Amino acid sequence: MVIQVKNMAYRKQIKVKFALIGCGNIASKHITAIKRLDDAEVVGLYDIDFQTAKALGEKFSIPTFPSVEKMVETASPDFLNILTPSGDHFERIMDLTRFNKHFVVEKPLALRVEHIDRILEECDKRSLRIAVAHQNRFNPPIVKLKEALNKGRFGKLVLGTVRLRWSRNQAYYDQRPWRGTWAMDGGVLTNQASHHIDMLAWMMGDVENVMAKTARRLANIEAEDTGVVIMKFRNGALGVIEATTATRPKDLEGSVSILGEKGTVEIGGFFMNELKTWDFCEPDDMDTTVWEQFAKVPDMPAWNVTEFYKDLINCYYSGVSGLIDGIEGRKSVELINAIYESAEIGRKIFLRFSPEKCRLGMTKAQYNKDSR
Ligand SMILES: NC(=O)c1ccc[n+]([C@@H]2O[C@H](COP(=O)([O-])OP(=O)(O)OC[C@H]3O[C@@H](n4cnc5c(N)ncnc54)[C@H](O)[C@@H]3O)[C@@H](O)[C@H]2O)c1
Repeated sequence: MVIQVKNMAYRKQIKVKFALIGCGNIASKHITAIKRLDDAEVVGLYDIDFQTAKALGEKFSIPTFPSVEKMVETASPDFLNILTPSGDHFERIMDLTRFNKHFVVEKPLALRVEHIDRILEECDKRSLRIAVAHQNRFNPPIVKLKEALNKGRFGKLVLGTVRLRWSRNQAYYDQRPWRGTWAMDGGVLTNQASHHIDMLAWMMGDVENVMAKTARRLANIEAEDTGVVIMKFRNGALGVIEATTATRPKDLEGSVSILGEKGTVEIGGFFMNELKTWDFCEPDDMDTTVWEQFAKVPDMPAWNVTEFYKDLINCYYSGVSGLIDGIEGRKSVELINAIYESAEIGRKIFLRFSPEKCRLGMTKAQYNKDSR
C-alpha cells in the first residue's frame, strides 16, 4: 500500500487523488487547498443530496457522481474525504472501508471514543491511513511554539490555557438541523473548540484528569454553547479550557497560551493565528525569526488546510505516519468525552476511561437506554 516516491517531477505526474464525500460548507475549503498543490487533485464529489454535489462540481469543474461506488470505480481515488456531519463520520468510515481507500476525515474523527477504537482497528487491519483535519497545528506561530516546547525552552510546564470566544447566533444553528444536537454534533466544546482542545493536549502532553461545567446560555440547542474545564496533566501542570459561541456582538478570540518556568508564549487572533507574546528567560536564535517570519498565518483562504495536505502527501509518499493520524485524532475526542462525562455527573474524571454518562454521539433514546 505504501509507495515511496521522493522525485517531485514524478509526483506531479501521478498526483494523489482525493474524492470528497459531503459537499457542504467545509468542502470548498478542501478543494481550494488541494487545487494549490501540483501533486494532488480532487477527482470526484459525492453528496447524499445530488444537487449540492452538482452545484459544487460546476463551481470548481470537478466531476460529480450519483454514488460512492460509481465514484470509486470511475475516478480511482487514493483517499476518500469524509466531510459529512460529525455524527455521521463513524458510520460513513465503517461502511466505506470496503473500498480499501485511505481517509481524510474532518474533525472530530468521530463523536465517541469507542467508535474511534473500532475505526482504528478496522483501518489498521486493512493498512488504511487516516488523517484528521486539525489544520491549526500548521499555523506558523503554533509550529514555532511546538518547536520551543520540543527544545525544552519552557523548562517545567506550569499552565496551559485555550480560549475560544466566538459568536454564533440562532440562525447559524437553525441553518443545519444537525448542529448543536447530541447525536450529530455536540456543543461548542466538540464543534468549534475541538481544535483548541487538540492544541492544548498536543502542547501540554497526556491528561491525568478533567473537571468541567457546561451551560446553554443563549443558543436554543440540545448541547452546550458555553463550557469551562480545569485539567491536570500527567506532568503536574494545570490546564484551562474556556469556550463559548455566546460572545456578543461578535467574535472575540481563539487563543492558546503556554506558561513554563523559563518562558511564556501566547498565540491569539481568531484561530490561534497571531503571535502575541514570545518571552523566554534564555535567548535563542529563533527569537528574532519567529517575529519576522512566523508571527502570522498568511492571509490566504484555507492556507493552513493546504499545509495539512502537504504534510499528508509527503508522509504518504515517504511511508510515515502523518502529523494527525487516527491515534492523534482520538486524543481530543477522548478528552471531550471525559469533559462531558464530568459535566454530567459533577465529578472529576480520570483518563483513560470508558464513557458512561457522556451524551455525545447518542440520541435521547440511546442515552436513556444505555445510561440506566
Ligand atoms: N476543520 C474545520 O475547521 C471545520 C470547519 C467547519 C466544519 N468542520 C467539520 O466538517 C464536517 C461538515 O461540516 P459542514 O459545516 O461542511 O456541514 P454541512 O452540513 O454544511 O455539510 C455536510 C454535507 O454532508 C452531506 N451528507 C450528509 N450525510 C451524508 C452521507 N451519508 N453521504 C454523503 N453526504 C452526506 C450533506 O448533504 C451536506 O451537504 C463536520 O464534521 C464539521 O465539524 C470542520
